[in-house]
Amino acid sequence: MITAETIEKIKETARIEEVVGDFVHLKKRGTSLIGNCPFHGEKTPSFHVSVSKGIYKCFGCGVAGDSVRFVMDHEKYSYPEALKYLANKYNIEVEETVESKENIELNSARESLYIVSQFAANFFEDQLWNSDDGKAIGLSYFKERGFREDIIKKFNLGYSPDVWDALTQEAIKNQHAEEYLEKTGLAIRNDKCKLYDRFRGRVMFPIHNFTGRVIGFGGRTLKTDKNVPKYVNSPESDIYHKSNVLYGLYHAKKAIRDQDNCYLVEGYADVLAVHQAYIENVVASSGTSLTIEQIKLISRFTQNVTILYDGDAAGIKASLRGLDMILEEGLNVKVVSFPDGDDPDSYMHKVGAGAFKTYIEEQRQDFILYKANILLAEAGKDPIKRAGIIRDIVESIAKIPDNIKASVFVRECSHLLEIEERVLLTELNAIKVAKSKKSAPAPRTSNPGHPDMPPDDLFAEDGPVQDPAIAVQQVSTDLLQEQEIIRLLLLFGHEMVNWEQIGEMHVGSFIIQNLGDVSFDNDLCKRIVDDYISQSEMGELPTFNYFLRHKDAEISNLAITLTTSPYQLSENWLQKHQIYVKDEAQNIKSAVLGGLYHLKKRKVDKMLTDLMNQMKEERDEVNLEALQGRYMQVKNIERVISKFLGSVIVK
Ligand code: UTP
Ligand code: MN
Repeated sequence: MITAETIEKIKETARIEEVVGDFVHLKKRGTSLIGNCPFHGEKTPSFHVSVSKGIYKCFGCGVAGDSVRFVMDHEKYSYPEALKYLANKYNIEVEETVESKENIELNSARESLYIVSQFAANFFEDQLWNSDDGKAIGLSYFKERGFREDIIKKFNLGYSPDVWDALTQEAIKNQHAEEYLEKTGLAIRNDKCKLYDRFRGRVMFPIHNFTGRVIGFGGRTLKTDKNVPKYVNSPESDIYHKSNVLYGLYHAKKAIRDQDNCYLVEGYADVLAVHQAYIENVVASSGTSLTIEQIKLISRFTQNVTILYDGDAAGIKASLRGLDMILEEGLNVKVVSFPDGDDPDSYMHKVGAGAFKTYIEEQRQDFILYKANILLAEAGKDPIKRAGIIRDIVESIAKIPDNIKASVFVRECSHLLEIEERVLLTELNAIKVAKSKKSAPAPRTSNPGHPDMPPDDLFAEDGPVQDPAIAVQQVSTDLLQEQEIIRLLLLFGHEMVNWEQIGEMHVGSFIIQNLGDVSFDNDLCKRIVDDYISQSEMGELPTFNYFLRHKDAEISNLAITLTTSPYQLSENWLQKHQIYVKDEAQNIKSAVLGGLYHLKKRKVDKMLTDLMNQMKEERDEVNLEALQGRYMQVKNIERVISKFLGSVIVK
């Protein structure tokens, strides 16, 4: 392990503009440097480097971090690898603590698994090209299916002989330990304790991790017998975790980044076929349903995913829900479907590479609209079914974290579904509010939303439908208000102030004391505030730098965004009410009080609505009186807050 002193030294020495400057052409603009973001394709620069803060931030794709993070993300290095890279760049001697014995053993065991997997891949490949059976059975199979030699070679495809223990014998002859053959699942021990091959008489697809090392295999049978499993796959092992592997990623990653899009298919054969059509940005989930880890893996390279679907309707419908998960991760999802009965592989071989490429470029549709179309076609004219669809679609839209993007879909779907935009917005808002208040269901004016019941808003002519503009805003203001508190803590927490009636005090302490029992809804904001509070309880207010270099990347990202984003300020309530002074530091007091009071007002408003709802339901007079008393109390607090906010606003 690299010692803490060395890490400190590296971080102190590395200059962000030099580290980034090795990869990005930077120009001076105002106090910062800007260039074209290396993490997404762009023509106008939105990648900012702040020399004084030692950080970078792209306002296009949102990436942000310090020197170490940049090297990790740009070069795909692990944390220690990035540190060593920087140490080397600045001639810093790296001190390492001696690795523990267990650690060394663990690492060398994993290394042995990689080595035996690579050995097996070479063996299978050699069999395919050089053995009689390999050529006559395996290679001719691939060729009959129309795969070109360069593709077969590129993916290191192979053939496993139809012999009980061909690979096992060969591996043992080459000094590979039985233990590792077993641990990778390449060999299996029978009840008589003899080892035999897992893969026999199959064409072999080696699976690479994204750095290109072989970690497992899929073996396809050549028999048409229904009782033989079509694919036999490697089991999970210390080096192969199915849920975070995508077949083909190693060969696709550069193209995914260059094209800023990732095609997603189902099978090994589909990956090969799409490559054969000269489209290299393609990966397969390989039979398992897509996992969050796989989506996160894709999102390291692009924010755009295009799903290439088999043409069968049942399959499409089954997978629609799974795709919401991709939306939830903030990715843009498009879909291409193929004529009934065709998958990407069969269609490519049917129409040829050129026509295939044109087809997927022309047919790609946005996922939500695609889903709406499919469901609508199915529902026909049945009004109840149509109402159900509306909720289904809006639920997908609610998964999109970006409100602006979501509102674009609302507009498009309102045309498609022939429903007024405001109705969709109300529904969207209700779903979002319900989601943010999972524990206590939000007071809603519409049907609480059993999926089979049409939401009653749909039929309300002039029911309590909100102004659409307010509806979208409301979703985001809660978050903005919480973020505003974080921003104030980070920027001004250490500022010592001396306010009338309050006396000398750090802004950070003042905010914490005055947050009282207000709880944050947004998990990330809550984590930061909790961290801030627990640190300050230990006697020290954490610094901006502490959060900036936080080991939790989400936290450091938010810290950077909140304190550097030009957009943030315009969302800020102070500016909205035009009392924003040029130098915010001059006006810390109203910024801090405003931030706190806005947050509190929101909580108080929620309490009032809750109380009001309880009062409506309450039949017992004594209880009702108690509730009314409580309502008056809270209402008084609300008045004080409103008065303050009002006085600030008119100032
Ligand atoms: P497909 O049946 O579509 O496979 O299953 P394919 O790759 O297109 O194969 P061909 O075209 O019939 O040769 C999709 C994926 O599901 C997994 C494999 O990863 C396959 O690529 N699968 C399928 C299995 O793991 N086991 C099976 O028995 C079948
Ligand atoms: Mn197939």
